[in-house]
Amino acid sequence: MNQKVYITKHLVEDLRKECDGRAVNGVFFLVDENTRKLCLPLLMEDDFFSKVTVIEIKANDDHKSLESLASVWTSLQKNGATRKSLMINLGGGMVTDLGGFAASTFKRGMEYVNVPTTLLGAVDAAVGGKTGINFGGLKNEIGVINSSKSVVINADFFRTLDAENLRSGYAEMIKHGLISNTEIWKHILSFDLDNVDYNRLSELLLESISVKEKVVEIDPTEKGLRKVLNFGHTVGHAFESYAMEMGKPVLHGYAVAWGMISELYLSYKLLGFPKETLSTAVRMIKENYGALPIKCDIYDHLYDLMTHDKKNEGDGRILFSLLKNIGEIEINVAVSKKDILDSLDFYRETVGLA
Ligand code: GLY
Repeated sequence: MNQKVYITKHLVEDLRKECDGRAVNGVFFLVDENTRKLCLPLLMEDDFFSKVTVIEIKANDDHKSLESLASVWTSLQKNGATRKSLMINLGGGMVTDLGGFAASTFKRGMEYVNVPTTLLGAVDAAVGGKTGINFGGLKNEIGVINSSKSVVINADFFRTLDAENLRSGYAEMIKHGLISNTEIWKHILSFDLDNVDYNRLSELLLESISVKEKVVEIDPTEKGLRKVLNFGHTVGHAFESYAMEMGKPVLHGYAVAWGMISELYLSYKLLGFPKETLSTAVRMIKENYGALPIKCDIYDHLYDLMTHDKKNEGDGRILFSLLKNIGEIEINVAVSKKDILDSLDFYRETVGLA
């Protein structure tokens, strides 16, 4: 992965460097209506960037669509973009995923830079080159893996995030802690989400991103190892879809945190993950993430949702990425329906629903 990832203290100057001497008409910003209002003004103070074409898409995952993508291609075309142009994606995961795909495909590919504006985007979506859109009712159905030139993180953006969005991003950092090593895991456990020390958060963020970078370096196209980044997501995505169906969507990181409770239990039951570490981890998740209220009469539906997981290989088995211990990974673990339902019982007991 030839992607440079860094935290900047001088966003304008560093982004100017990322432009590599391109003229104003060779640079494009992609924003959504929120980042246009809240983040773009910081860049518009600069004489060069104030003249750059700004392309805006609608915020939220339901606009991560072919229509939005086509509108970005059209704007690039109308404004004379070439394959030497640069796209700067300023936003959360939706903007960096869609913008990365638009740039990767326009005239067969122009360079792009991600400037994540959420913690979740910085720790996950902006890094590792996965790009794409939702299609036919399925998330991230169409896309390519093509790394951005750089990921430029302005940690000041995270100071404006509300407590829930901060926790949502932190859930992916918990996941990176669990799949890496005991030292990083200890750092993750010792961070106080109620009294956020933003400097410490930046340090932990870089450490956490390096966990993902190492995995992606070895397996950029998810032939094997990269599936570990999906820890907590098999059950988590089912929770997320269910909440959406109920008309009460939850933040992605919350669903992953709850999913990790079930998947830590499966790790304990099937692979001997240590009981004490299981207790510490689930307590920490419970204290910080509360619970998605579910009853046992929706277990079958949750199970059905899990049969659509991208890690499955079409033979009816549900495949998980699980852990033997902190940092000891096992991918493609087929789990029986009974064990999956037991893990949902464990989730409900842990969060106090049973
Ligand atoms: N979000 C998981 C990955 O990038 O592989």
